[in-house]
Amino acid sequence: MGIRIIGTGKYVPPKVLTNHDLEKMVETNDEWIRSRTGIIERRIVEGDIAASDLATEASKIAIEKAGLKPEDIDAIICATITPDMVFPATAYLIADKLGIKRPGFDLNAACSGFVYSSALAYSMLKTGIFKNILVIGSEVLSKIVDWQDRNTCVLFGDGAGAAIYTIDNSESDILAIELGGDGGCADLLYMPAGGSKMPASEETVKNRLHFIKMNGRETFKMAVRMMTESVEKVIQKANIKKEDIKLVIPHQANIRIIDAIAEYLGVRREEKVFVNLDKYGNTSAASIPIALDEAISQGKINRGDIVILVAFGGGFSWGAIALRY
Ligand code: ACO
Repeated sequence: MGIRIIGTGKYVPPKVLTNHDLEKMVETNDEWIRSRTGIIERRIVEGDIAASDLATEASKIAIEKAGLKPEDIDAIICATITPDMVFPATAYLIADKLGIKRPGFDLNAACSGFVYSSALAYSMLKTGIFKNILVIGSEVLSKIVDWQDRNTCVLFGDGAGAAIYTIDNSESDILAIELGGDGGCADLLYMPAGGSKMPASEETVKNRLHFIKMNGRETFKMAVRMMTESVEKVIQKANIKKEDIKLVIPHQANIRIIDAIAEYLGVRREEKVFVNLDKYGNTSAASIPIALDEAISQGKINRGDIVILVAFGGGFSWGAIALRY
């Protein structure tokens, strides 16, 4: 029995925020953002739109493409660092919007959330308890970005991607999983307030502690190292060669990080590495499932192809999955 992705979907909010728009908000410019990150524009929600809203739209598409009905979904995992609220989990809110009552939970591994969730879905399906698991990455980062901080506000965007994993007797399968984490680096990329350590107060709001704080330089160095190492290890575990890989779908944080992966593989980025961060920026847990959906829609992945998903994010967390699509 193999684990297979039978449907994917994406949803991004319609409002586009360009680098030129950002020039009017902070001291930055299009040239800096493009050359340092590869980002040209990102999508931003308006009003009270939350992670569950984006996730529900992406899920509806994934369910339809899989030829299923919402009732066929046995469990929901929602990877997010921007849940609708601290509790209940966004997964239940999504289930309700889909019109079903199902077990589910949120998974917080920042930008590695979809890779971690896929690994977990694999384990859950292998037990035989579940048949179809809906795995979603959904983020409304625009609501936790400090729009006065040019170091971070130019990087992030909103969106959601979804995939349905099933177990059946096809030849598709997850070939290898490689996950890592290091809590010693927690304060290099985090949101200080709003949790039990530092609950919301007048002081935390005044000091802008409910926003993403990032040491970009250190995060960048670790991201390059751990993403290339994860690819290397997952290739070894899956017992495949670099040449066997049809497409690498990396977390979309920075084009220079993505180029380092292409360099490790010894290929030109255009040949084997999927990129869409120019359109969406860094959408954290949503970036890989959005990219996966686009890669499938564009015919860049076909049944039987070997695909690598690789991510790095807050925690620090990182990981890679090798799968036969
Ligand atoms: N516009 C203009 N100048 C800027 C901007 C901006 N938007 N932002 C920073 N600068 C300035 C800095 O102030 C600095 O100036 P200084 O030298 O006078 O101090 C200069 O540009 C260079 O800053 P660096 O930090 O060295 O720039 P770098 O080339 O490292 O790029 C970046 C910064 C893009 C943030 C990069 O470090 C990066 O991509 N880091 C990794 C991000 C990442 O992968 N995050 C992980 C996932 S996120 C998650 O899990 C939620």
